[in-house]
Amino acid sequence: MCGIVGILGSKPVATDLVDALRRLEYRGYDSAGIATVENGHLERRRAEGKLRNLEGRLLTEPLNGHTGIGHTRWATHGKPTERNAHPHMSPEVSVVHNGIIENYRELKAELTAKGHTFETETDTEAVVHLITDGMRAGLGPKEAVKAALDRLQGAFALGIIFAGHDDMMIAARQGSPLALGHGKGEMYLGSDAIALAPFTDAITYLEEGDWAVLTREGADIFDRAGAKVSRPRVKSVASSLLVDKGNHRHFMAKEIHEQPEVISHTLSNYLDLSTGGIKFPDLGIDLANVTRVTLSACGTAYYAGLVGKYWIERYARVPVEIDVASEMRYREPPLLPGGLALFVSQSGETADTLATLRYCKAGGQQIASIVNVRTSTIARESHTALPTLAGPEIGVASTKAFTCQLSVLACLAIAIGRARGTIDDKLQDELVKALTEVPRHISTMLRNEKVYEDVAHALSHARDVIYLGRGVSFPLALEGALKLKEISYIHAEGYAAGELKHGPIALIDEAVPVVVVAPDDELFDKTVSNMQEVAARGGQIILISSASPDRVGCKVLAHLPIPKAHPFTSPLLCAIPIQMLAYHTAVIMGTDVDQPRNLAKSVTVE
Ligand code: G6P
Repeated sequence: MCGIVGILGSKPVATDLVDALRRLEYRGYDSAGIATVENGHLERRRAEGKLRNLEGRLLTEPLNGHTGIGHTRWATHGKPTERNAHPHMSPEVSVVHNGIIENYRELKAELTAKGHTFETETDTEAVVHLITDGMRAGLGPKEAVKAALDRLQGAFALGIIFAGHDDMMIAARQGSPLALGHGKGEMYLGSDAIALAPFTDAITYLEEGDWAVLTREGADIFDRAGAKVSRPRVKSVASSLLVDKGNHRHFMAKEIHEQPEVISHTLSNYLDLSTGGIKFPDLGIDLANVTRVTLSACGTAYYAGLVGKYWIERYARVPVEIDVASEMRYREPPLLPGGLALFVSQSGETADTLATLRYCKAGGQQIASIVNVRTSTIARESHTALPTLAGPEIGVASTKAFTCQLSVLACLAIAIGRARGTIDDKLQDELVKALTEVPRHISTMLRNEKVYEDVAHALSHARDVIYLGRGVSFPLALEGALKLKEISYIHAEGYAAGELKHGPIALIDEAVPVVVVAPDDELFDKTVSNMQEVAARGGQIILISSASPDRVGCKVLAHLPIPKAHPFTSPLLCAIPIQMLAYHTAVIMGTDVDQPRNLAKSVTVE
């Protein structure tokens, strides 16, 4: 959940390290730092806050070493201060770390008793002292790192450099991704291939438990037991994924506007547009006889999964068990033979989702995952990876990845329904046609920017906002509230519309906007009753619907229309107003839209 980079270069590496860190900021941006080998000894520069603060520091206090490591942090242990920023170091060794060292307290106690002085509140510092201790006892860098790795518990990735060793860097992967990059007389290390894209497209992904000794000529890779292993060198497509904001003010705005295109790409991967049928990949399981689907994910991906549950149960008539991954992994639900376990993840690296995947795999389930990063761990550990073709998503608040996840889930629901005979030719035609119309409808909606902006002005004055939805719109209410709170910091909660009277109604008064996601489907009239309950208490209704507000029968503050379309596709269409409302509210409030406080794009810790 932090970003790691390392370079064994042929010229000073500080600028390239910072450049690579910029591409890793999606992993965290609480603080940043780099360390280099300067004439045989280790030097570092660190700064609290965004990367630009570190750049400022390097202007006045440059580093000139040709060997260096860098880090951008999302704090887990210790406040995001300069003192806690990585790299951490002793005179002998400097370490950057992503993940959590679970037994750091024991190690700290043991090393403190041996005379080591800890300066930070981080778990990482235990790694520094452990390696230093080995080196002071006479071990070489490689042996000291191996001995330290044998003691470390948790999920982590490490990049390590040593005083007096200008042509050496050690990398280790246990639970957090790490890629090696091969250059000409240079070697690189990064949390992902995108970080290394400007330097090289020749990438080796370390596997679980691997550690590697890098020199400028290449890398020796070892497995957990210390045996030398060979890992394939692959050509990364990451360089084509390097992105900028185009004409947009924020990545989030750009990504919202990319949706018609990326949804089209994604759908065309799973639909046969010439025949109006579907061309879903073989999931390695007989879909006609699948007894249960187990679905798990985190954050926005979980809400996509929740929509998937409504779709699969309704159209394919298969029971779907769903839970957030952080619960499912420890709840350890019983798994029936012949089950399909489905995971949804933009990054493909989310620690809880990965752990739940492994639980289900060990339980004999057939594993499929809907991922945006095809080279990710979740993709690689699945029997079948179902890519979303959203392209890199940089804004922390997920938008286009969400609608692309919905697109794949919609196709999957049709695929299962077809296999089980619950969707006949006529219904398939209807559903596929509705899906193919989604990009066009979204294009139309995106032209209404001014309407969303006007409503966002009203939301920007609110302290609390409630989102309501019923049926397949309930997950959209949850996602709407999440979107708003994560980037505007306005307190927002999503509820099933029918639950309003069981508690949340107590919060409603004239100052509380209530965003109601209610497409014109068979549940619309039920939700109308809830809107009337809101209006009776003075609540300000903002209606997202394809139905006319005249049908509500009470005052509606604003109507954000969605096109009239098949109810099947309403979650894809309703996603647009909720994204736009959150985006414009955050812009009006002047928050950091793409990098909201305390959040990170990719969460590789529990
Ligand atoms: C983080 C991100 C969310 C995302 C969630 C799951 O919290 O900020 O936008 O929904 O992780 O991430 P994943 O990569 O598994 O979809």
